Amino acid sequence: MIQHLAIVGATGVVGREFLKILEQRDPAIDRVSLLASPRSAGTKISVRNKEITVEATSAEKLAGVTVAVFSAGASVSREYAPIIARAGGVVIDNSSAFRMDPDVPLVIPEINAGDIAKHNGIIANPNCTTIMLLMAVAPIHRAFGVKRIVVSTYQAASGAGIEAMNELTKQSRDYLDGKERRAEIFPHPIAFNLFAHDSSVEANGYNGEENKVVNETRKILHEPTMPIAVTCVRVPIMRAHSESINLEFHDPVTPEQIRALFASSPGTKLVDDRERSYFPMPIDADGIDDVLVGRIRSDISRPDGRGIELFVSGDQLRKGAALNAIQIAESLGAAE
Ligand code: A2P
Repeated sequence: MIQHLAIVGATGVVGREFLKILEQRDPAIDRVSLLASPRSAGTKISVRNKEITVEATSAEKLAGVTVAVFSAGASVSREYAPIIARAGGVVIDNSSAFRMDPDVPLVIPEINAGDIAKHNGIIANPNCTTIMLLMAVAPIHRAFGVKRIVVSTYQAASGAGIEAMNELTKQSRDYLDGKERRAEIFPHPIAFNLFAHDSSVEANGYNGEENKVVNETRKILHEPTMPIAVTCVRVPIMRAHSESINLEFHDPVTPEQIRALFASSPGTKLVDDRERSYFPMPIDADGIDDVLVGRIRSDISRPDGRGIELFVSGDQLRKGAALNAIQIAESLGAAE
């Protein structure tokens, strides 16, 4: 039982999805508080047949909260999460603020639920791209030992928030109406285009998103030196991310062995129909909990059988954010 749950960023795209999943899964919670910026104070949102008024986030409003889920950006997390942790509550943080802090567990429950117990009041939800990647790669790594990962991503607008999704819709309309596609949220037109992920390029030539995937993957797998090469790309898709993944192994592995693994891997669904050329697609991943895994084939550049290629699609707002956070909250509730 969770005594007092606070959702910080309740009016945002992840916060709203969190509330939807809360209704569907209906975990035992005594009291829910909805918090956002002062702009949204007074807005009413119906949660489990009860109207709740959104309040401006403040230390005062967070007093007595036992579990808080933060999806309001890293600066809000940095300011308020430690206050809850110090008062004995637990924060599940969707931002990047604490992910690489050695005292903060970074958790995908299907993969490293055991790390939850090490928390000191803050548990970090990984980046959505890392979650999608590891839902496929972690079970494979556990079974066969992955030596190197190469991944290219096809990321939806939802990862950049509600205004970015609105920008995709507006630009698409404008483009079809023969008007200019004006980029205000993203740095470039997103409709009928794609571009390198919009996070800044860092000293090593990789952008922030790419470096997150590398660092978070190593932390979650407890493999601090795992070689990973990654290219993150934003595509004109509303809310499901896809990834093309190439894996190198120490020993030969067959596509049949990989397929057999996904016949029963929690949180994933095998979509791998060569005859119908039916593989994971964002259109099928949109709105569902499972990450779709398929396009499994032997890497033809490795005649020694030590390479596998695959493709995944997963809902960035569900397993990539809100669902993963609620799964962590449920494990906390179960432990109390
Ligand atoms: P608000 O709707 O009042 O601006 P998204 O990622 O979809 O853009 O959502 C961001 C979420 O973070 C929203 O709920 C937003 O509230 C919230 N937020 C933004 N800035 C702050 C802030 N300074 N304090 C608390 N919540 C904030």
